[in-house]
Amino acid sequence: MASQLNNWRLLSTTLLLLLLSLHLVSVTASLESQARSLLHWKSTFHSRQFLESWNLSSNPCNWTGVTCNLTDRGRPVVTEISLPNMTLEGPLDALNFSSLRSLVSLDLSYNQLDGIVPPTISALSNLVYLDLTGNRFTGKLPIEIGSMKALQFLYLNKNQSLEDFTS
Ligand SMILES: *[C@@H]1O[C@H](CO)[C@@H](O)[C@H](O)[C@H]1NC(C)=O
Ligand SMILES: *[C@@H]1O[C@H](CO)[C@@H](O)[C@H](O)[C@H]1NC(C)=O
Ligand SMILES: *[C@@H]1O[C@H](CO)[C@@H](O)[C@H](O)[C@H]1NC(C)=O
Ligand SMILES: *[C@@H]1O[C@H](CO)[C@@H](O)[C@H](O)[C@H]1NC(C)=O
Ligand SMILES: *[C@@H]1O[C@H](CO)[C@@H](O)[C@H](O)[C@H]1NC(C)=O
Ligand SMILES: *[C@@H]1O[C@H](CO)[C@@H](O)[C@H](O)[C@H]1NC(C)=O
Repeated sequence: MASQLNNWRLLSTTLLLLLLSLHLVSVTASLESQARSLLHWKSTFHSRQFLESWNLSSNPCNWTGVTCNLTDRGRPVVTEISLPNMTLEGPLDALNFSSLRSLVSLDLSYNQLDGIVPPTISALSNLVYLDLTGNRFTGKLPIEIGSMKALQFLYLNKNQSLEDFTS
């Protein structure tokens, strides 16, 4: 009887520890998954000369143009990305927006981002400021942008598609 009780205690302690560690994993995974999304996006750029700090040996909160803040629960998340005039050349839709819901501000102005402005950008439900000025997008602005509840500033002037020069 006593040994059964001990077994039960051992089992419940093990379960508790397992749940706690799962919780810790889910708490720390987010900044890491944000970093992975950003690194994947970087890998699609034609030139990466200004983004050397974007590597796994440094904390993403220290990466060029990346700012973090703490959530209510005190864990760091990416809240701002500011990369104006960084000669970024590549598709915007290679960025996994659903991993970046914590973003409040996104400034990608004066680069050479191309392709569509993807409807998935509307996953940025906390985004207040979006500056896409001076890029080379094709297609229309996705209607989903209208569902971004926090958005207050949206800049998309000087969108110069290559088509401007070839047609
Ligand atoms: C990684 O980023 C740090 C700065 O955050 C930089 O000093 C280092 O050279 C980078 N490593 C590589 C391989 O680019
Ligand atoms: C950011 O970099 C500075 C200087 O290299 C370092 O002192 C600091 O600890 C780093 N911060 C994080 C969050 O890694
Ligand atoms: C960081 O988060 C706190 C609490 O949510 C907020 O009050 C503060 O304004 C934020 N700081 C920045 C620089 O966004
Ligand atoms: C971008 O940077 C270049 C070189 O640093 C500078 O000459 C140019 O004025 C900048 N353009 C904008 C729009 O900030
Ligand atoms: C995008 O990020 C979300 C949240 O981190 C993740 O669940 C999803 O698998 C990612 N999608 C891709 C294509 O990597
Ligand atoms: C950007 O400009 C190009 C060429 O003028 C146009 O075809 C495209 O629809 C525009 N896209 C956006 C999102 O403004």
